[in-house]
Amino acid sequence: MSSSAYPGGTPQTTQNRETWSTRKVFILAAIGSAVGLGNIWRFPYVAYENGGGAFIIPYLVALLFAGIPLLFLDYAVGHKFRGSAPLAYRRLHPRAEGLGWWQVAICFVIAVYYAVIIAWAAMYMIFSVTEAWGDDPAGFFLGEFLQVSENVNIGFDFVPGVLIPLVLVWAMVLLVLAAGVQKGIGRANVIFLPLLLVMFLLLVVQALFLPGAGEGLDALFRPDWAALADTGVWAAAFGQIFFSLSVAFGIMVTYASYLKRKTDLTGSGYVVAFSNSGFEILAGIGVFAAVGFMAHSAGAPVGEVAGSGGIGLAFIAFPTIISEAPLGTLLGVLFFGSLVFAGLTSLISIVEVIIAAVQDKLGLRRLTATLAVGLPLAALSILLFPTTTGLNLLDVTDAFVNNFGIMAVALVTVVLLTYGLRSLPLLGSHVNETSSIKLARGWRIMVGVVAPVVLGYILVNELIARIQEGYNDMPAWFVGVFGWGMAGALVVVAFILSLIPWSSRSAANHPVLDAEANAGKEAAR
Ligand code: ALA
Repeated sequence: MSSSAYPGGTPQTTQNRETWSTRKVFILAAIGSAVGLGNIWRFPYVAYENGGGAFIIPYLVALLFAGIPLLFLDYAVGHKFRGSAPLAYRRLHPRAEGLGWWQVAICFVIAVYYAVIIAWAAMYMIFSVTEAWGDDPAGFFLGEFLQVSENVNIGFDFVPGVLIPLVLVWAMVLLVLAAGVQKGIGRANVIFLPLLLVMFLLLVVQALFLPGAGEGLDALFRPDWAALADTGVWAAAFGQIFFSLSVAFGIMVTYASYLKRKTDLTGSGYVVAFSNSGFEILAGIGVFAAVGFMAHSAGAPVGEVAGSGGIGLAFIAFPTIISEAPLGTLLGVLFFGSLVFAGLTSLISIVEVIIAAVQDKLGLRRLTATLAVGLPLAALSILLFPTTTGLNLLDVTDAFVNNFGIMAVALVTVVLLTYGLRSLPLLGSHVNETSSIKLARGWRIMVGVVAPVVLGYILVNELIARIQEGYNDMPAWFVGVFGWGMAGALVVVAFILSLIPWSSRSAANHPVLDAEANAGKEAAR
């Protein structure tokens, strides 16, 4: 295909698909994707609420029996079929394309609100210097900063303090993505990830030296063994692992598609998974050491001061700590700076899933695909979230896209691949072709039996709970539209997108890969 036919550059095909320059860059990008907002504010709180030290058991079970096996499944699909999620699944089987679009649609929803939390964190990095919240961090966050409306509704009263940083976050993410896989995503991760690690280590060390740190760690790690009998705790552990490892929503399929042919997939996967969990536990230590200090200063139990939930812990409890701690400004800049860098590298990976899919389907150049995806995505994010009603919308979309988006697509994927298409032997042997640590039969049992049983159980329980209890006392119409409606729309949109024909100049026409997919078995290369 000559570039002259396409002024400005050649559309990407499978033959000229971009690749990471080295495996190290891929590993950094995959860790950058995994380590995100979920690690820094979600994990500490989820662990604390679900049995403290005892949570480590369901957490490790979820990691080893579902998280890592599904990570390898994502790698296998992306690496073998060398495409974005819809293209890779289409090559696996033409009827599976919809699965890929479902994952793309999930990324679309996550991206629109994820960017807003990064924008808040960026502002709080600045507020840490002036301690803008004065002596009322809660009132400042919900009132002066977010100007949260009392009515749970959708409105377009924009809050400039959120709007401006949000525009900048989008500009930065799209600039990185427009530069391409290696030059944009790869380079951004090579810079941001070490920076994040250094900042976060400094934060943890500083937090550990605060008076009362031990009380916080004691609260986090003291095991409540009775919690292990609670199925909700197990559900929380699996939910945390899926979101945190970035499995089942297209990211690892897409990133693995940019790997060179001969790559140690399992070796890389273990490094990514254990780095992510290491970072998560480090985040728990750092955050709870600081919360212990807060409890110590207030003369209150840790449970009382930590009780404000994920967003509250970061944007209400932490400011209190910053105001009271020695070198509090430094603590604030490190904490919110870590959130910004961790969030950016994850958001980049989430948006890349959508860009890669559109690029593959329509045979577009990188820049065109980035603009075609990025502009509407950023516009929607900017229209809906930096408003006085954005917080409630964020809350409900986050809960529903995780439970009825990621968990649901993960369940359908493992069932379809195991029992419908019987693809696990093919995918397992592909991984084993180039990997140092071979996948044994245990992998198939975990993907085909353990994961569907656990996911199905969690999903049904969550479905019953939400139907019976609603969500966070929000009006039924609001949850109906932005919770249930949104989760249902993901499936409908995926189905419609899978019906649209592939462009003749798209990456879909690759003789070897398509022949392999049609034959459903390994083809001689
Ligand atoms: N894996 C990313 C996170 O933890 C999405 O935030």
